[in-house]
Amino acid sequence: MNFAGIFAYLNYKVPRTRKTIFEILVKGLQRLEHRGYDSAGIAVDEDNGKEHKNGGCICLFRNKGKVKALADELYKQKLLDFDKEFEIHFGIAHTRWATHGVPNEVNSHPQRSDKNSEFVVVHNGIITNYKDLRKFLESKEYEFESETDTEVIPKLTKYVYDNRESEDVRFSTLVERVVQQLEGAFALVFKSLHFPGEAVATRRGSPLLIGVHSKCKLSTDQIPILYRTYKNNKNGGTSKAHQIETESLQRLHPTEEKSVEFYFASDASAIIEHTNRALFLEDDDIAAVANGCLSIHRIERSVGDLASRAIHTLQMELHQIMKGNFSAFMQKEIFEQPESVVNTLRGRVNFETSAVMLGGLKDHLKEIKRCRRLLLIGCGTSYHAAVATRQVLEELTELPVMVELASDFLDRSTPVFRDDVCFLISQSGETADTFMALRYCKGRGAFTIGITNTVGSSISRETDCGIHINAGPEIGVASTKAYTSQFVSLIMFGLMMSQDRISLQQRRKEIIAGLQTLPNLIKEVLSLDEKIQLLARELFQHKSLLIMGRGYHYATCLEGALKIKEITYMHSEGILAGELKHGPLALIDKRMPVIMVVMRDPCYTKCQNAVQQVAARQGRPIILCTKNDEESRKFAYKTIEIPHSVDCLQSILSVIPLQLLSFHLAVLRGYDVDFPRNLAKSVTVE
Ligand code: AGP
Repeated sequence: MNFAGIFAYLNYKVPRTRKTIFEILVKGLQRLEHRGYDSAGIAVDEDNGKEHKNGGCICLFRNKGKVKALADELYKQKLLDFDKEFEIHFGIAHTRWATHGVPNEVNSHPQRSDKNSEFVVVHNGIITNYKDLRKFLESKEYEFESETDTEVIPKLTKYVYDNRESEDVRFSTLVERVVQQLEGAFALVFKSLHFPGEAVATRRGSPLLIGVHSKCKLSTDQIPILYRTYKNNKNGGTSKAHQIETESLQRLHPTEEKSVEFYFASDASAIIEHTNRALFLEDDDIAAVANGCLSIHRIERSVGDLASRAIHTLQMELHQIMKGNFSAFMQKEIFEQPESVVNTLRGRVNFETSAVMLGGLKDHLKEIKRCRRLLLIGCGTSYHAAVATRQVLEELTELPVMVELASDFLDRSTPVFRDDVCFLISQSGETADTFMALRYCKGRGAFTIGITNTVGSSISRETDCGIHINAGPEIGVASTKAYTSQFVSLIMFGLMMSQDRISLQQRRKEIIAGLQTLPNLIKEVLSLDEKIQLLARELFQHKSLLIMGRGYHYATCLEGALKIKEITYMHSEGILAGELKHGPLALIDKRMPVIMVVMRDPCYTKCQNAVQQVAARQGRPIILCTKNDEESRKFAYKTIEIPHSVDCLQSILSVIPLQLLSFHLAVLRGYDVDFPRNLAKSVTVE
């Protein structure tokens, strides 16, 4: 797995002290901390970049542990002159999640080509053919110092540089040669002693964006892609790259004063405080900044490739990625749900006319309606959103609905047909298994719909169309508001599909009315926070916690158990109450904490039976039920009572007490809620 974070900053004719540069790099890394990491590193110029060719060098600072520890160490040691000013400078930074080699200084990024750090690289992803490359480079007497897969990249760059055919080789040409040799997934940013003040970045299967900030107008907001042409050498192989004539026109640069700043990051949250103008690189784009101009080139045009990369205006606001008065991002995000759900619904549901219109889907509706089956595919919480809405989608679309865990879907080589509509559900839009499932479905001719929370993400770009859930940035590793917004998005899809079905109008109206009251009901559930904290005090020392329910609430059980596992490290299991007699009942005794979800819906009587079976084995069920449910109170050790909503929306409400419970359990057990061990926000490798 690789959850690393990349941040890099280039100031061109914007004088910055070394201290400011450090602060920008450190803050950039801190904005990526939620992704999970175990070491951090920074590379900056020792002297003014211009002096490098005369013997200056690149300084590397790397540490196991937190970004703050790295920064504190840097300032404490006073190794460099922090007041030194740089008119042009390029600094790169990284948070690493150990994959190849333990977390320590030498395995941290930036990785370097040699002791002089002629080339330094930060990398997210995995290089699968690194062993072969390492063997080759070792045979050429390049010495390796780390156990990482990444180290082959700067070393290979140096090898290409050392063996260059002409003196005036460009930095981007070197990188282009290097990435042609790499297999696997990567986002890379390169810095070099030989190319002071220049940056090169590229990606394949791992996200990377470039933010631009300039006080004056930029030359373009669409950067045309430059396709390199190669001239065959005498032996028929490819050699020197020849730029096409118009290249100088195809760059982004400031039009008047020449000052400009570029920010490179694996996640938009790292750049938003500097600029909201950014472009997202596509796989195999090579972006280069030289003399303050940004150009992008590719070697080959791929099918469906756009001829330019647009500069987007990011909608994210700085306050959205700050914790505010909350102690953790997860807690903030749980409490944001009354608003995030409204944002998901905004402009899509007309509560007066009961019309539902999803802008991203409307031009494809005919095609979608012709389908024979819906497949909902995701991982973790996103998969649970599929489980939660399956029943109502079957009802509203009258189609068979399959729900699939992306990894298992791929393992089984599941049959997919041209008349299938496949939903790829992913908060980040970058989850490798879900992304591979997307490619698999596309390869079989199915129509694909992305449900993501991240504009510009791989899944949102590669699907035929999509629904942006508009939940706002989700920073906490434990997904909360994205779940409820994915849920609402899928419900809206069902409502849109059933718009013309006369027999379903009454049901639609009931659900739409339910959606309108949902934000207030969520607020009411959130007001139970103190009560849930008290319950957490009773439970936090237990080893295990079972959560049972059925029908619409099975997904709540799975999701609640996942939240508890991931941030409290307690064992927790979501159990389908219908399966109780087939095994789980053996776990019940007076010591085993059990939460049972019993709501007033068609499964109510069956759930009450399950409660009685648990009570009969001396179990002490904590019952999550609708307000004033006397029947449930009779058998409950305790109740958590929530307001009533429409049956198919009720599980949006029933999951919230479990989100709160997991949060309080984690705090009481002394864990860092936003940085659960061994986990990170987006899982970009299979
Ligand atoms: C949720 O709390 C988890 N952190 C995890 O299961 C997550 O939902 C899963 O990795 C899928 O992520 P995605 O939605 O970004 O694809």
